[in-house]
Amino acid sequence: MTGAAGRNPPSRPRKSCASRSTISGASPLSGDEIEANVAATIRTGWWLNGEQVGGFAGEFAHAVGVAHCVPVANGTDALEIALKALSSRDPQRSEVVCAANAGGYAATACYQARLTPVYADIDPHSQLIAVDSVVRCLSGDTLAVVATHLYGGVVDVLRLRQALQEAGYGHVAILEDCAQAHGAFLGPQRVGSLGDVSTFSFYPTKNLGAFGDAGAVCTPSADLFAIVDSLRQYGWAAKYAIGRAGGRNSRMDEVQAAILRTLLPRLDAHNAMRRSIVARYKAAAPAGVRFVEGGEGAVAHLAVLLSPQRDRLREHLAAAGIATDIHYPILDCDQSGWTSLPRRIDPAGLPVSRQSVGRLLSLPCFVGMTEEEIDAVCGALAAFSGT
Ligand SMILES: Cc1ncc(COP(=O)(O)O)c(C=O)c1O
Repeated sequence: MTGAAGRNPPSRPRKSCASRSTISGASPLSGDEIEANVAATIRTGWWLNGEQVGGFAGEFAHAVGVAHCVPVANGTDALEIALKALSSRDPQRSEVVCAANAGGYAATACYQARLTPVYADIDPHSQLIAVDSVVRCLSGDTLAVVATHLYGGVVDVLRLRQALQEAGYGHVAILEDCAQAHGAFLGPQRVGSLGDVSTFSFYPTKNLGAFGDAGAVCTPSADLFAIVDSLRQYGWAAKYAIGRAGGRNSRMDEVQAAILRTLLPRLDAHNAMRRSIVARYKAAAPAGVRFVEGGEGAVAHLAVLLSPQRDRLREHLAAAGIATDIHYPILDCDQSGWTSLPRRIDPAGLPVSRQSVGRLLSLPCFVGMTEEEIDAVCGALAAFSGT
């Protein structure tokens, strides 16, 4: 079990291991097809801004249900460029409301874009940003709200939009961070098509993962698309002609795009496998262990539970050879590297985020997990006595 968890552990740092496990699996992971498509791409000698990236942009936009997709180098760049694009449309406003437990990615992007994160609390059941807390965080300076679909759960963006309108903040943009929720649904709509703009990471362990870094920005807006497309390539209006300040270089490469095009048609099947793993864990969980509920359209990026006995449970699972991780051990507002930077917090505080951070535990959950591996986690979970 240790080996299996190590092939694709719940923790982020084992990047290369995750990609290796993806290609080594035959069905349903399509290792042979991926190798053939990578080889064919390499033989073209075309590395950037080519047919594969263009093809992926169109196919991914179609899959998400938006008009436009701009492939970029990773999910953090996607967030930064999307925020810069929103900011360039509304330069007077400088605050961005984010969930306090969002892993630091949105806040990193805020600081890169010279914007101020305002930390909202979360819902105790879903661990997703809480709409009432967002409303308390709003001010005349609010530019955007980042709705992070954390753990594969789905923020009710339509309810969030309605709450913003009712509070007199209908002009505030919604950015969906979909890095952990590729293919998830809210009703009939895919996440990434609900807000003004959305961002994706294709980091190897994601539900749609490349064999290295990659990301994308999606939007229904032709106007935002043009800004994002320029910002991700130096701010060019045309080749070598800078038409916009704040640009940078952030490109997805052809090989990553070829891999993602091979895996995209399997996304729903892979998500179903992840969901079924979590369903089995839930059925095996003893009293006192509660799994995060991300909603009907959730895709189980991570199998996250909450337990007041988290550290004991973690030791118990480790003794059974099961690797676990914590997503995330430090709230974004408590990161020591950012103490000197501007930020605000929900005036009512962050009671749910603060209580949850010491109770969270992520169990192994990845495509290609064997029946024996899943059974081993279920057995160890069921054997845990929370008292
Ligand atoms: C919710 C969320 N947003 C953004 C990112 C950033 O993506 P990347 O690692 O590709 O920069 C991640 C990556 O782990 C993430 O989980």
